[in-house]
Amino acid sequence: MAVSLTHLEKSYQDPSGKSFRVLGPIDLRIETGEFLCLLGPTGCGKTTLLRILSGLEQADSGKVSLGAGRFGYVFQQGALFPWMNVESNVMFPLKAKGMTGSECRSRAAEMLNHVGLYGFSKSFPHELSGGMQQRTALARGLVTEPELLLLDEPFASLDTRTGINLQEMLRAICGRLSTTVIYVTHSIEEAVYLADRIVVMGHSPGRIVRNESLNLKWPRSRLSSEFTEILLSFRQTFEKLVDPSATLSS
Ligand SMILES: Nc1ncnc2c1ncn2[C@@H]1O[C@H](COP(=O)(O)OP(=O)(O)O)[C@@H](O)[C@H]1O
Ligand SMILES: [Mg+2]
Repeated sequence: MAVSLTHLEKSYQDPSGKSFRVLGPIDLRIETGEFLCLLGPTGCGKTTLLRILSGLEQADSGKVSLGAGRFGYVFQQGALFPWMNVESNVMFPLKAKGMTGSECRSRAAEMLNHVGLYGFSKSFPHELSGGMQQRTALARGLVTEPELLLLDEPFASLDTRTGINLQEMLRAICGRLSTTVIYVTHSIEEAVYLADRIVVMGHSPGRIVRNESLNLKWPRSRLSSEFTEILLSFRQTFEKLVDPSATLSS
C-alpha cells in the first residue's frame, strides 16, 4: 500500500497550556512493498507520526493519503491483552473484522508457527519471556496479512541477540507477504540492517533531515565493509542532530 504525507503538521500543549510544534511540516512518500525505517532520537515525534498515520491522532494540517486495505500496528511493549492467552491475542484483529470459528483459529495457528510460537497458544502473556511477548505482538500485527504494517520500536526492550532474531524473522515474513512497512526505531544499526530506505528525523520540531535508499544487498552482514560504512555515515548524521556543532570529520 503506498502512503503519502503532505505538509503534515502537529502541535501539542505543554503542561502550562502553551502550544508547541511537535511535527512538521513533513512530506514523505512510501511505495508499495517498501520497508522504510523512520530513525530519530527520542522525542522527535516518531510515535506521533505513526499515530497520525494510523488514525489514532489527527494532524493539525496537511494530508495523509493511504491506499485502501488492511493495516497492522505493533507497539513497543506491554500492548498484549494480559487477560487473553496468546491465541486470543492473535485472533483479536480477525474477530474485530468479523471472522470466527475454525478459520480464525487456523490463521492464528499459522501465524504463530511463522513466529516460532508453536505450542504456546494457551499461554498467557505473563508466562512468556519478553521476546516471546513481542513475537506474539508481531503475530497479532501480521495475522490479517496487512498491506501496511506500522511498528513502533517493537524490539527496543529486548536483548541484542533476541532483537536480531526477530528482525530477521520480520524481514522474511514481510518480504513473503510484500507488506509495506514503516518501522520506527532510534537504533541506527537496526535501521541499516532492516531498511530499503532510511528516513532520519530531527527534533524541535520533528522534521526529515535525511531520506536515503540503501544500496545493500541481501542477505546483509553487519560485519561487511559496506554495512559499517553506511552505519558510520548515519551515525554522523545522528551526532549532528544531538550536537549541531559536531563536524562530519570528527
Ligand atoms: N498527548 C501528548 N500531549 C502533549 N505532548 C505530547 C503528547 N504526545 C507526545 N507529546 C510530546 O511530543 C513530543 C514527541 O513525542 P513522541 O512522538 O512520543 O516522540 P518519539 O516517539 O520520537 O520519542 C515529545 O516532546 C512528547 O513529550
Ligand atoms: Mg516513540
